Amino acid sequence: MTPAPSRVVVRAPGKINLSLGVGAVDAHGYHALATVFQAVDLYETVTASRADTLSLEMTSSVPGELPLDGSNLALRAAELMREEFSLTEGAALHIDKQVPIAGGMGGGSADAAAALVALDRLWGLGLGGEGLRRLGARLGADVPFAMLGHTALGRGNGGDLTTVLTHGEWTWLLAIPGGHLSTPQVFRTFDEIVRTTGRRPAEQPEVDERQLQALSGGNIELLAETLENDLQVAAFALHPGLEPVVETAERLGAPAALVSGSGPTVAVLVEDEAQARSIAAGLMRDSLVDSCLVVRGSAPGASVLVEE
Ligand code: C5P
Repeated sequence: MTPAPSRVVVRAPGKINLSLGVGAVDAHGYHALATVFQAVDLYETVTASRADTLSLEMTSSVPGELPLDGSNLALRAAELMREEFSLTEGAALHIDKQVPIAGGMGGGSADAAAALVALDRLWGLGLGGEGLRRLGARLGADVPFAMLGHTALGRGNGGDLTTVLTHGEWTWLLAIPGGHLSTPQVFRTFDEIVRTTGRRPAEQPEVDERQLQALSGGNIELLAETLENDLQVAAFALHPGLEPVVETAERLGAPAALVSGSGPTVAVLVEDEAQARSIAAGLMRDSLVDSCLVVRGSAPGASVLVEE
């Protein structure tokens, strides 16, 4: 038997949503979704080391503050695992952040995913992919996708995943405006907008088949036509600086741009890195965004970097 490790390092990616169809609300207050996630090459890296108690530290290359207390998703992941398996072990967790905080890119979910994978090894649980994803789903709808990575269709509350075939790599400019948006508040605003327009949301929305074709065929024009986020209108209503970012990116030549998830990060589809840089320069010149990042998808899901 191999001895239990004393230190495990796992990284998990941030994501964007290439489409996000929002349907009816269930008994738990969650909306039925049909979404296409794509993982991008910005990672949260979690190191879990043996310790008597649970603790958390963070280093970050992105602006913003994150809770280090019990509401932090990585700590909640550790607590959930201890409860579920009646463990008394501790762990010293360290997170190195690259994914924008509260930006609609699933950074907190990536923290939880990486923490679960790392602690599974550190505590010798051997849960495997399916067991870890099931546990992750209890912490947040995006956690199972941060484990799986690449590109996937998410249904139900976002956690029922099917991998989507993609051809080649996609380049995205992430345009990051100031300010944060709260996911529950964006969903609430979406509900209000639906109510005032008298529209009845689908029990289970469906993804646009043409988006899946665009991804498998590497067809950027078709992908641009199918980028769609039902939450975008709510994000625009709550954050007046967002609509100009989407409009300007498209006016500057981007095939398409949309708010990622509940925002406020805007994902701009670009043909190549040179186009990304020229659009970023335009957005920065007009002071529409605080910062821009060029990323690529699809990126792999949670992976173990070190186990010793
Ligand atoms: O799952 P997660 O913790 O990221 O969700 C945050 C909030 O977003 C939920 O508490 C809920 O208000 C809203 N949400 C929703 N329907 C989903 C996913 C999230 O209403 N499918």
